[in-house]
Amino acid sequence: MEPFRFHLFVCTQQKPEGVASCPASGSLAVLDALDREMHARGLSSDVQLTTCGCMGLCDEGPVMVVYPAGVWYRRVQPADVSEIVGTHLHDGKSVDRLVWNDAHAMKAMSVEHGEKFRAAMAARDEAGMLPDRLEQMIRGYMPSRCILTALELDIFTAVGDGASAERIGTRIHASARAVGMLLNALVALGLLSKSGDIYRNTSESARFFVQGSKDNHRNGLLHTANIWHRWSTLTDAVRSGTRVPIDRDTAPEWTQNFIAGMQRIAKDRAPLVVKALGTAGVRRILDLGGGSGAYSIAFAKACPDVQCEILDLPEVVPLTAEYVSKAGVSAQVSLRPGDMLLDDFGSSYDIIMLNAICHMFSEEQNRNVFRRAHQALAPNGRLVVQDFILNPDKTVPNHAALFSLNMLVATDAGASYSELEYTDWMKDAGFSEVCRINLPGPSGLIVGLVK
Ligand SMILES: C[S@@+](CC[C@H](N)C(=O)[O-])C[C@H]1O[C@@H](n2cnc3c(N)ncnc32)[C@H](O)[C@@H]1O
Ligand code: FES
Repeated sequence: MEPFRFHLFVCTQQKPEGVASCPASGSLAVLDALDREMHARGLSSDVQLTTCGCMGLCDEGPVMVVYPAGVWYRRVQPADVSEIVGTHLHDGKSVDRLVWNDAHAMKAMSVEHGEKFRAAMAARDEAGMLPDRLEQMIRGYMPSRCILTALELDIFTAVGDGASAERIGTRIHASARAVGMLLNALVALGLLSKSGDIYRNTSESARFFVQGSKDNHRNGLLHTANIWHRWSTLTDAVRSGTRVPIDRDTAPEWTQNFIAGMQRIAKDRAPLVVKALGTAGVRRILDLGGGSGAYSIAFAKACPDVQCEILDLPEVVPLTAEYVSKAGVSAQVSLRPGDMLLDDFGSSYDIIMLNAICHMFSEEQNRNVFRRAHQALAPNGRLVVQDFILNPDKTVPNHAALFSLNMLVATDAGASYSELEYTDWMKDAGFSEVCRINLPGPSGLIVGLVK
């Protein structure tokens, strides 16, 4: 029995460069268009849309099959989607011009394709060629660098409602020839479209990368662009065992971009943390290294009785003040410029938060902060660490393992740490109960309780 009126399978099988495949013929754009059109017509709950692997008809891609009748469509393009959804998924009639129902030819093509593909892969292996997976990882910096440069130059804003390379080059004071090359690469990456000599933003780039858009992430992403320069020092950092200085750290906008980058992540995570910890019995919170104040702001908004104090470096506190004031919670959130490694924390807090802090410090520094936090908490108070938490052998999860290198290139002695380490440090600092709370997303919480 079919649980859905229709079930669509769209092939999204990636193949080595130069080999015919549905994604190379545009199946990802078809998938996206199907999803949007079905949603627009209110069909999402009647029709299941599923991606699938190769069906062996790659030269005729993008290929898509609609069940329960088993109708095979080939060479489907985004321009066909409206008709497929209206005629087939809504009215129940297939779109004959796209149907492929020559079972004999289809089977022959699939068998031939499979044999050819296996032979080609065996020949590559025999010749000792690098697998595509390794090639892609090694060249992974290319797409990343294109996007970061486009963000640094604010290209997506300069594209506006559509413009030529010459016009965009003039707007950002850059060479038209080079801008044209970058724009073409951005089209290849699916971040712009091109028609004639006019480039346009996609719905995604218009939403996330253009100044003035509600969901613009550019300012926060400029921190990633700054960090990119640090990653280019990784070899030297590994040799020396710590970060090596680079000029860009002293750029005046570095701190502003850093805090914007932190806020970009924290504003979505803060409500999850408030929900996980709850506000019952919580009156006083110390937010160590609060940055944009996102976590204190979320607590203040969740509970009018909560008072938060953010301790951050003197050069950051004026930026924090702006975020707090904009959120309208200045009466509940106070700011203290200082150094959490040296300054007295105060006393009688119900929660002390260390969101994205411990990875900046060495084991010794974290142990020191945990000991002083234990003394500054009230009975039943909690120390909350939010971070990327590694498994005991420090190889999983992938993001935490890579982030550890982010700290190698960016800090004196920071790293990602494991649950075992955090638990050990908290217990040594005097916390009687320590537990882990998993959150959706890459970071988790370790919470220590004062008895
Ligand atoms: C990675 S950010 C995290 C910000 C915030 N907790 C969040 O999750 O969005 C680290 C913060 O710690 C602050 N910080 C770094 N070293 C500090 C120190 N020694 N004392 C106080 N704050 C510090 C930085 O200025 C920055 O705001
Ligand atoms: S890649 Fe889609 S059918 Fe082969």
